[in-house]
Amino acid sequence: MAILTGNKKIKAAVFISGTGSNLKNLIQFSKKKKSPFLVKLIISNNLKSKGLRFAKIFKIEKKIFKFKKKSLDEKKILKILKFKRIDLICLAGFMKILSKNFIKNFKGKILNIHPSLLPNYKGLNTHKRVLLNKEKYTGCTVHFVSPNLDSGKIIMQKKIKIKKDDTPKKLAKRVLIEEHKLYPKAILKISKL
Ligand code: GAR
Repeated sequence: MAILTGNKKIKAAVFISGTGSNLKNLIQFSKKKKSPFLVKLIISNNLKSKGLRFAKIFKIEKKIFKFKKKSLDEKKILKILKFKRIDLICLAGFMKILSKNFIKNFKGKILNIHPSLLPNYKGLNTHKRVLLNKEKYTGCTVHFVSPNLDSGKIIMQKKIKIKKDDTPKKLAKRVLIEEHKLYPKAILKISKL
């Protein structure tokens, strides 16, 4: 794939908004020999996002952009990404929608993880909606980001069986465990394309 240059590892930026468990997991995976990427930058739109603590713990540069003026912030982010020679953006619980122009600048190089079996249950509150609809299965998806929300090409998915006593909270917890396995696998997969 175009993001892999020679034998060098892919330089990734991870975008977060909240807890950052996927961020932590990606950083930990990136330290393994078999990892095709390194996490070089953390970007958050939320000063209070818990995941920002991993910047300090793992000594990774972090930047916060509140996205109040989205186009201005996106311009600044693009500048930093180019300056740091970032090859890949991994959205990990990032709750802002990136503009068409931003995505065009990193075409085919932005990934997202979503807690459902896309194309089903795009958007928010997936677990609640899945349970209300009495689905038998749910899961998680890693996909390329396209201008339409949660609609880019799917890279990998993991299916999970729903239990009788599941609540949105219980389900979120089980799906997250699978997300942590799936995201690194999906990056490995695209690095070999
Ligand atoms: C994850 O479940 C991720 O799939 C979801 O937010 C959670 C973030 O958890 N993302 C979305 O809903 C994006 N539409 P984390 O901050 O612990 O990684």
